[in-house]
Amino acid sequence: MVTASAPGKVILFGEHAVVYGEPSLVAALDKRTYVDAATREDNKINIVSALGSDTSTVGELRGDTEDDFRYVKRAIALVFERLNESAGFDISIRSDVPPASGLGSSASVSIATIMAVSEELGVKLDRKEIAELGHKVELGVQGSASPTDTSISTFGGVLFVKPKENEVEQIEVDLSLVVGYTGVERSTKFLVDRVRRLREEYPDIVGHLIRDIGKLTREAKHMLVRGDDVGMLMNVNHGLLEALGVSTEQLSRAVYAARQAGASGAKLTGAGGGGCMIALTPKNQDAVMRAVDGCGCKSFYSVITRDGVRLEET
Ligand code: MEV
Repeated sequence: MVTASAPGKVILFGEHAVVYGEPSLVAALDKRTYVDAATREDNKINIVSALGSDTSTVGELRGDTEDDFRYVKRAIALVFERLNESAGFDISIRSDVPPASGLGSSASVSIATIMAVSEELGVKLDRKEIAELGHKVELGVQGSASPTDTSISTFGGVLFVKPKENEVEQIEVDLSLVVGYTGVERSTKFLVDRVRRLREEYPDIVGHLIRDIGKLTREAKHMLVRGDDVGMLMNVNHGLLEALGVSTEQLSRAVYAARQAGASGAKLTGAGGGGCMIALTPKNQDAVMRAVDGCGCKSFYSVITRDGVRLEET
């Protein structure tokens, strides 16, 4: 049996715009998804997690299922296709990343599954290839997806993701961040579709908003590298995400409460529609956490990890 794990994430800048080729800035969260993979003698694929369990066969994997394990099944199918080899598997999943929260649970389970299944079949894929397969999983399940979440789950640290160039850059930066989880689960696909429809209806206006998010993300990268405070740019980014229609009243209340309690900036993070917000807290962390909790969110201090996908001792 092989166990692999991969981290969740918080998007610092650029969500949604990155789907249209603009860059994003993203950090790996010290909350991981663990996947155990063991081959079986028959051709069954058994998957077990806190969400429940599922049994299918190797032949059924590629179907367009809507079930809770669609990311895992597609990840296994893509590994089989890449290795030109298949087998029955017992897959067991544990995760510290809350599902459908904007913290990258789907990417972390896809990436950890790709590593665990390929290693159990005796093949060491390099990280670039793991990230690319992970991106294909998200494209297959969601229809459209940027490489942001799957890249950060693979490489860890803080990344500047450039989808047009098909490149990622590691950024060396120390950030103090508070995350506030609304407890509201939402679908990334639904929110990405909503922005797409708005863009189709108002191409000029929404095109400008998307390009402005790209510009501020590039500026934020330069400022972070220089060690400057990017709080104000976070506030602007939140305003533009509100304009795209992906914030909620609760998210925006938590964002404003965090700023009032002394955060240097705050914004929603991920697809929006519920999920999470982040606040930059070089100081006033406890006060910010109390203010965010006061808006019905559950706050935690976010630790950024350098560890992307990795094998665990078994
Ligand atoms: C989801 O974590 C971030 C979005 O930008 C979608 C994507 O990048 O695929 C909303």
